Amino acid sequence: MSLHANQKILTMPTDTKPLEQDYGENPLSVRDTDKYKGEYVQSFVDKWDELIDWEARAESEGDFFIKTLKEHGCKKVLDVATGTGFHSLRLIKEGFEVISADGAPEMLAKAFSNGRKHDKILRTVQADWRWLNRDVHGKYDAVICLGNSFTHLFDERDRRKALAEFYAALRHDGILILDQRNYDMILDEGFKSKHTFYYCGDNVRAEPEHVDEGLARFQYSFPDGSQYHLNMFPLRVRYVQQLMTEVGFQKINTFADFQETYRQEDPDFYIHVAEKRYPDDMNKPNKEIRR
Ligand SMILES: C[S@@+](CC[C@H](N)C(=O)[O-])C[C@H]1O[C@@H](n2cnc3c(N)ncnc32)[C@H](O)[C@@H]1O
Repeated sequence: MSLHANQKILTMPTDTKPLEQDYGENPLSVRDTDKYKGEYVQSFVDKWDELIDWEARAESEGDFFIKTLKEHGCKKVLDVATGTGFHSLRLIKEGFEVISADGAPEMLAKAFSNGRKHDKILRTVQADWRWLNRDVHGKYDAVICLGNSFTHLFDERDRRKALAEFYAALRHDGILILDQRNYDMILDEGFKSKHTFYYCGDNVRAEPEHVDEGLARFQYSFPDGSQYHLNMFPLRVRYVQQLMTEVGFQKINTFADFQETYRQEDPDFYIHVAEKRYPDDMNKPNKEIRR
């Protein structure tokens, strides 16, 4: 049977999902916002969750996020970096109404199945932050972007766009909670003094393999000898605060390692709580990191 000129042969869709991480011949040249989907390959996602003990993670974070959300009267939360669902599930169990978004389908699928294991149905949406409001509708009391996720954006344009989309998804008095690794320490202390981070005990070792002002390439080693990488942009803490301010957030409190004191020396993580509304007392200076 011959085909008419405007008829097409229907073929089965080919599965283009990468099974392994592939950074090509020169991994240090891979500095691309769109790369994240290819980094979270299924085996990495599975391994990560197998080894990271959610209970230990919950213990190390304490009730920092829950307390902060409650203090700000938040009920409806948009988790924009759901990953495998750790924070979404914790918040659902605490009674928050949560929408779980992420750009990576493997992550969302894992989050959904983790939800089932905890007898919860996650309300998932696949959405890239740069076009968040195209795919996620409604207004939220809080947007959370946790687990050092914002570091995946390599262009300043993407960072500004993502923050503007987070801002737009918030109610008039909503808050954004965004955390980041302490890259200032890694950048300023130099590569030689590189710090090794352990996730919840000795299970996963994460260490910087290469760091310059435009790239932090981390290697993740697992007890079975397997290794994965993530190429990330090393965000300086003041730069993130400045971007948030420029996008329109009026007050930014930055915390260190889930402690309420921002003076803690060399924490591994910083957590920014950015508020949309004007501070009650306009003369009161914002808390900021001082060294
Ligand atoms: C380091 S993981 C953290 C996951 C989770 N929040 C946690 O703490 O376990 C970063 C997550 O951000 C997502 N992500 C990175 N860039 C994104 C983008 N441009 N749009 C949407 N999601 C993105 C990734 O797919 C990944 O699930």
